[in-house]
Amino acid sequence: MNFALPMAAGAAALLGIASFVGVDWDAPPVETEQVGYRGTGMYVTKDAAEAQAGRDANVVPESPWEPDPEGDRARDVYENVPVLGHLSDDQFTQFMASITEWVSPEAGCEYCHNVENMASDEVYTKVVARRMIQMNQAINVNWTAHVGETGVTCYTCHRGNPVPKEVWYRDIEPQPASRGYRDGQNVAGIFTGNTSLPQNALEDYLLGNKEIRVHADTALPMGTQTATTKETESTWALMMHMSESLGANCVSCHNSRAFNDWDQSPPQRVTAWHGIRMARQLNTDYMVGLTPIFPDDEMHLGPQGDVLKVGCNSCHQGVQKPLYGVSMMGDYAASLGELSDTEVPDYSTYVPGVTQVMGE
Ligand code: HEC
Ligand code: HEC
Ligand code: HEC
Ligand code: HEC
Repeated sequence: MNFALPMAAGAAALLGIASFVGVDWDAPPVETEQVGYRGTGMYVTKDAAEAQAGRDANVVPESPWEPDPEGDRARDVYENVPVLGHLSDDQFTQFMASITEWVSPEAGCEYCHNVENMASDEVYTKVVARRMIQMNQAINVNWTAHVGETGVTCYTCHRGNPVPKEVWYRDIEPQPASRGYRDGQNVAGIFTGNTSLPQNALEDYLLGNKEIRVHADTALPMGTQTATTKETESTWALMMHMSESLGANCVSCHNSRAFNDWDQSPPQRVTAWHGIRMARQLNTDYMVGLTPIFPDDEMHLGPQGDVLKVGCNSCHQGVQKPLYGVSMMGDYAASLGELSDTEVPDYSTYVPGVTQVMGE
């Protein structure tokens, strides 16, 4: 009581000063969207200027030209095209022009090719790109439960950057003082919405398949419901990552009076369920395998030497549907809408800079 009074007096004084110096107390204009049944209070409210900035930053690039699907197949024209050989020559060229714009607009074709010998796999980025094409095809063909008809292209993640900006990696810094032990907690986790929740929760769920459901139906833990408080915090950390990645709050996917109950949740929660499994598969089946081929530097690997990995933000980049749900698939259906079943080469034997064809 004794110390509460000066606190309150201090706050009142600050308010008083603020009203004299003319601090602008108006709330910014907001956009509000109803996302659940009426009467349930399920609204998503966004700062209108931020929402507009989001729309401006998520404009889909044009296809350089409409490719002719007829004519010779790429495999009859080129030497080393195991993944894109089924395309027409024109579709192949249009796709090369497009990935250059999406992934390496500054370096151009040379980012992936020795332009004296286009067929050679001597530039490691070409080998990565081939695997990326397969990963992208797998997303569009096998994960329609998440990406629907909208699908994704390299641009969804890359946005003109050779290494996508929104990625995650193992993060153990800052280390606690000598005898300290904080078990990965109590530091603002950069991949979990800057909360002090478990800092490597994404490893548990978007690489491993740790149980996410921690909600008990009874007041005290019993039977199989024995999740510790810490486990519930890991779930929360993942939920923070998901919310931040989509620029959405918890009620975009949950009714906050019953977080566990699927019947009361908006349909987006089911899409998100598939998204968790998809991101996990992209990391385990595609990203991790590529680790040995990347140069061992801080641009391409995390500080602990792990490959940079895909999170919800890699595609979503702060909006509920990547690129506001505008599909680029029409122009690239032939390249990214079909699976090519070539074998995965042994990346650990790769030597960069030597004229070669991977897998031969
Ligand atoms: C992001 C990496 C990347 C960029 C940039 C890129 N390519 Fe490619 N290119 C590839 C991959 C991967 C293949 C092999 C495709 C396959 O395995 O089916 C390839 C194959 C080729 C081939 C076939 C060579 C042969 O005989 O086997 C040609 C021609 C080609 N690219 C032209 C271009 C041109 C022209 C540009 C610039 C406009 C370009 N590429 C930019 C990744 C890239
Ligand atoms: C789901 C997200 C995602 C999609 C879609 C995607 N990539 Fe990537 N890509 C990544 C991530 C993450 C890395 C960074 C890996 C690392 O550096 O450890 C990467 C790295 C690369 C690199 C290596 C760059 C470098 O400098 O080392 C190339 C080349 C590349 N991607 C090409 C492509 C192409 C071509 C496509 C489309 C066919 C594509 N990517 C689609 C996530 C994606
Ligand atoms: C994009 C959709 C989405 C958002 C946003 C989201 N969640 Fe979730 N949440 C899910 C899904 C999907 C599951 C179930 C995951 C599974 O079982 O694999 C889940 C599970 C949970 C659970 C565990 C429920 C149980 O049965 O044990 C809790 C608690 C939870 N979320 C809380 C939150 C909180 C708090 C927020 C906001 C910080 C949030 N969620 C934001 C989709 C979402
Ligand atoms: C490879 C890119 C990619 C990744 C990674 C990804 N998403 Fe998505 N997501 C999409 C696309 C594309 C759509 C739009 C689908 C459509 O238009 O029907 C989408 C749609 C959604 C929706 C539905 C939005 C709505 O309003 O209907 C939710 C929710 C969602 N994603 C959650 C997640 C969560 C959570 C993660 C991470 C666990 C995730 N996504 C990872 C590409 C991705």
